[in-house]
Amino acid sequence: LALRVLEARATAVSRRSRELLDARVVVAAAVVHDGRLLVQQRAYPADAAGRWELPGGRVEPGESDHDAVTRECAEELAVTVEPTTQVGPDVPLRADLVLRAYAARLLSGTPTPTDHQATRWITAADLATLDWLPADRALLPALHPLLPGV
Ligand code: C5P
Repeated sequence: LALRVLEARATAVSRRSRELLDARVVVAAAVVHDGRLLVQQRAYPADAAGRWELPGGRVEPGESDHDAVTRECAEELAVTVEPTTQVGPDVPLRADLVLRAYAARLLSGTPTPTDHQATRWITAADLATLDWLPADRALLPALHPLLPGV
C-alpha cells in the first residue's frame, strides 16, 4: 500500500511539473519613452473593456518572447520596439498561463491603436490612478522604478 501511495504521489508531481513546463506565456511590453510609460485601454471582452494594460499578447508556438513583444506592438500599435530585460515577476493569469513583461525601447512609430479604445503615455503618478487589469496591476511595483520620480 505504501508503495502505491508513493507511486500516486510521483504521478501527481510529474503531471504538475508537465503543466508548469507547458505553461504558455502572454508577453507584455513596458515601453518607456521620454520618461513616460505606454499603456492601452481594452475594448473587449466585456469584463476587461475600459480597463488598462500594457500592450502584449500570447507567444505563438516556436516564437521567442522578444519576437512576440515586437510582433504584438507592431500589430496592436503600429510601432517598432526593441525588448530588453524582464520587468517584475511572472504573474499567473490561469493555471497554465503567465503574464511576463519586458522593458522595451521605442525605435519608431507613433502608437496608433488598432484593437483598443485608447493609448496613453503615463507618468509615475498616473500608475496608481488607472483601472488596471488585475495581472498588470501586480506589475506596478516593478514599473514604478522605470519612470522618473515624482
Ligand atoms: O490580448 P490577448 O487577448 O491576446 O491576451 C491574452 C490574455 O492575457 C487575456 O486573458 C488578457 O486579459 C491577458 N492579458 C493581460 N495583460 C496584458 C495583456 C494580456 O492580463 N497586458
